[in-house]
Amino acid sequence: MQLAVKTATFENNLTQDRRDQTQDLQRALGRVVSCDGSRATIASTVGGMAHLGPDSWTVGRMISINLGSSRIVGLVFEMAAVQAVWDEGSDNAIHVQVELLGEVSETADGRTSFQSGISTYPPIGAVAHRIRASDLALVHDLGTRKAVAIGTLTQDPSIPATVCIDDMLARHFALLGTTGVGKSSAVALLLRRAIAARPRLRVLILDPHNEYASAFPDRALTIDAEGLDLPFWMFKLEEFAEVVFRGRSAFDEEADILREVVGVARERYRSGSLRSSMRDLNSTLLKRPLDVGQGRREDSAGSAGDMPTPYRIIDVLAIIDDLIGMHEKRWPHASLRSLKVRLEALHGDPRYQFMFARANMMETMAPVIAQIFRVPHHGRPITVFQLGGLPSEVVDAVASVLARLAFDLAMASQGTYEILLLCEEAHRYVPANPTLGFLPTRQAIARIAKEGRKYGAYLGVVTQRPGELDPTILSQCSTIFAMRLANEVDQQIIRSAISDASASTLKFLSSVGNREAIAFGEGVATTMRMRFAELPRHELPAMDVVAGVEGRREPGLDDMVRRMRG
Ligand SMILES: Nc1ncnc2c1ncn2[C@@H]1O[C@H](COP(=O)(O)OP(=O)(O)OP(=O)(O)O)[C@@H](O)[C@H]1O
Ligand SMILES: [Mg+2]
Repeated sequence: MQLAVKTATFENNLTQDRRDQTQDLQRALGRVVSCDGSRATIASTVGGMAHLGPDSWTVGRMISINLGSSRIVGLVFEMAAVQAVWDEGSDNAIHVQVELLGEVSETADGRTSFQSGISTYPPIGAVAHRIRASDLALVHDLGTRKAVAIGTLTQDPSIPATVCIDDMLARHFALLGTTGVGKSSAVALLLRRAIAARPRLRVLILDPHNEYASAFPDRALTIDAEGLDLPFWMFKLEEFAEVVFRGRSAFDEEADILREVVGVARERYRSGSLRSSMRDLNSTLLKRPLDVGQGRREDSAGSAGDMPTPYRIIDVLAIIDDLIGMHEKRWPHASLRSLKVRLEALHGDPRYQFMFARANMMETMAPVIAQIFRVPHHGRPITVFQLGGLPSEVVDAVASVLARLAFDLAMASQGTYEILLLCEEAHRYVPANPTLGFLPTRQAIARIAKEGRKYGAYLGVVTQRPGELDPTILSQCSTIFAMRLANEVDQQIIRSAISDASASTLKFLSSVGNREAIAFGEGVATTMRMRFAELPRHELPAMDVVAGVEGRREPGLDDMVRRMRG
């Protein structure tokens, strides 16, 4: 569209920016005809046979309104022809609605700066024109903060889109968008930038689709179900119970027994005796279960909850046997037997070997922490935790252990280890519905969101369904990359999260392209519509199974059925 502006002379008593007068007139697109304090309407005309051009009015673009020594930056969010008919033979009047975002002002020495908010409103008749590239760059400039380029502005791909990694991490971030828009790829890009900008940072990715290993062949250690060692004794009691009872809460009595016998087994391990005498056992067991628990808590040097000290499963089983054989019937035998069968089955199940196989070769958590949190990291500060191969009922418990360890390690390191926990499909772990999800995982993630910043524990959440994510977690994420979201409920959630004047940017949430995002919050200068940089193929996340599938032979039906059963 070629735009022509009505030639009515514009006389006002503003000191016009003489230097740019001719340039501005060339770029002049229209004039302000109304303004209500946050929005303005610009009247303009469009030639009857207009084509799309750099000066076209289009929704989503920033424009500027000239006030002489300053320029107001506005965002076009709506426009319409004044008459509902189009005359191809002459100019047609149009009205353009813009949201006023802020001001670019020039100092006497010729330097320019941008501030959000408006101090001088445009008078009726003020000239609106295409924004200068330098102003557009200034609007998104992070000033004295350290800027890292992650892509380009949608409006002008010659201008880099930058974020402040420090602020993005410290105040947590979220990446939201419907399936296939490029969230995981954007995560890969952001994480590469983050580890480059902060050499002390460790990243732990909870990877439910086993897709990140391919994105960081050089910078990450991948831990899959087979390579994982997470001793059962590092689980808090409720986490262990989640695994033992397969996420079902109907076994209250067995859970109470488990609490008691684990307490005794820990005591036994600590006192160093493999089989204490029946007299010792009686004296421990005759205490109420709570006493045992409290004794443990006092011993754990003030740490909240049960301290992850080792114990042995054989001791647990032996203690259950002893309880069955005891004269005093403390627990129904059926419950004791059932718990024993459960523990034996778990212990023998190859899928749970990560909890049991090498658990009692370790005396402390140190080797596990060293592996998972990359201490030292030897150039690979990222751990990709492939949850895809784990039995579904243990994913929650494992996520809980990992989130808890991340926080505790950051805290114990007194800020020397910074840890970012990246949760893909975060709505699974911290669902909006309080009756869903696993409480300890929710608590561990919420703890990072609420207090992590003080200790260097950061959170990144990724979801396709913001509406299903716990809103308190999302509200703790101060930088949000909103990608395409088709669902109205999801869009509403993003709208309520944005605080600055650029809320109408979010009108575009349902229509932004792949790789595009509207970024807002602490990590960016102003709400920014941007496109993530294109990643080379070898840095893209891809599911293991799909990567390299070309040339692979199709398995026979029998093979596939066997795998499905397995
Ligand atoms: N920054 C990028 N550079 C190059 N290709 C990209 C980029 N972003 C997305 N793509 C392409 O788009 C595809 C889908 O992207 P991606 O897997 O990141 O989407 P997603 O939002 O995580 O999807 P899902 O919701 O299914 O997890 C990628 O496989 C890749 O081909
Ligand atoms: Mg993804």
